[in-house]
Amino acid sequence: MTAAPRGPLRIALLGAGWIMDFHARAAVEHPDAEPVVVANWREPSLAKLAGRYGIHRTTTDWRGLAADPQVDAAVIGTPNALHAEQAIAFLEAGKHVLVEKPMARTVAEADAMAAAAAGSGAWLMVAHCFRFHPDVRALRARVERGELGEIVKTRSYGVHARWGPSGWFTDPELAGGGALLDMGVHAIDTTRYLLGDPELVRACAAVGTRYGGYAVDDDAILLVTWSNGTNSVVEAGWWQPQLGGLEADTELYGTGGYARVWDFTEPPDGYEHCTQPMYSAQFAEFVDAVLTGRQPRPSGADGRVVMQVVEQAYASATGPAR
Ligand SMILES: NC(=O)c1ccc[n+]([C@@H]2O[C@H](COP(=O)([O-])OP(=O)(O)OC[C@H]3O[C@@H](n4cnc5c(N)ncnc54)[C@H](O)[C@@H]3O)[C@@H](O)[C@H]2O)c1
Repeated sequence: MTAAPRGPLRIALLGAGWIMDFHARAAVEHPDAEPVVVANWREPSLAKLAGRYGIHRTTTDWRGLAADPQVDAAVIGTPNALHAEQAIAFLEAGKHVLVEKPMARTVAEADAMAAAAAGSGAWLMVAHCFRFHPDVRALRARVERGELGEIVKTRSYGVHARWGPSGWFTDPELAGGGALLDMGVHAIDTTRYLLGDPELVRACAAVGTRYGGYAVDDDAILLVTWSNGTNSVVEAGWWQPQLGGLEADTELYGTGGYARVWDFTEPPDGYEHCTQPMYSAQFAEFVDAVLTGRQPRPSGADGRVVMQVVEQAYASATGPAR
């Protein structure tokens, strides 16, 4: 393994968009981390993010940072098409990587990332953030204690109601897929985490483009069978006209009872689903694991299972693929 750096962990932030704001704040606030540089292809957003968090160094050349001895680790929050290329460059240089979800566009890309990590001994973590939400963790603890008996089936979803993303998110080359890869992965990983991280047996799906004029999917229904015998129905979508709760949720049906992560049909006033503490807890896992020389979770192997589900689902679907 690459020797654990003696903190603070010097972090390069790759990307300067919506999600990087959360990572940057987490990095600034963490006592054992220091965001030393931000890289982005567009200079205005780059300068803005760096200014907001007092990060003195910026660059449009992320490749140069992979070989930079002043950098210990990278957080990747760029379009999905860049995840594998960027992660591999840093991992091969022995630098640890926290990569946004989805970890890649395909299982082959995920495998190449894992190989790069194994080759240098650097750590790879995938930002499946809902594992760090206290409500999700509380339900997992209940499942572990056996309160619900054996989990027979689950229902989960990750959707945007009455809106959907644009720009690179709807470009098949840059995104690698549509709502399934964007929002479905939240539901797939949360389900798997709640079940105690089983392996995939098989996944199939109906996938379509129904709401918009783009060339990626915006509606998907999956049936997933896990190695522990649980069957999962997973829904992903953009522009759905109605939402039966929050943007992502999971229900568990067990031989000993039923539970839902967020047990309300309308969010309470002021409730926000994705808040800084969740992303900060995720970032803290990355820093703590790297500095103590252990594999951060969710790992590249965890992210790969999600990619397997996505890939099998797309492959099984008729109609417009990704
Ligand atoms: N975990 C979560 O809750 C969560 C939420 C949102 C996004 N994400 C993930 O984070 C990643 C980024 O999403 P975002 O919402 O921040 O997107 P964004 O569009 O807000 O930011 C993307 C960044 O990449 C840059 N970029 C755009 N196109 C590029 C290109 N062709 N080449 C190089 N750079 C380019 C942009 O300038 C920007 O800095 C995605 O993988 C997304 O799935 C995760």
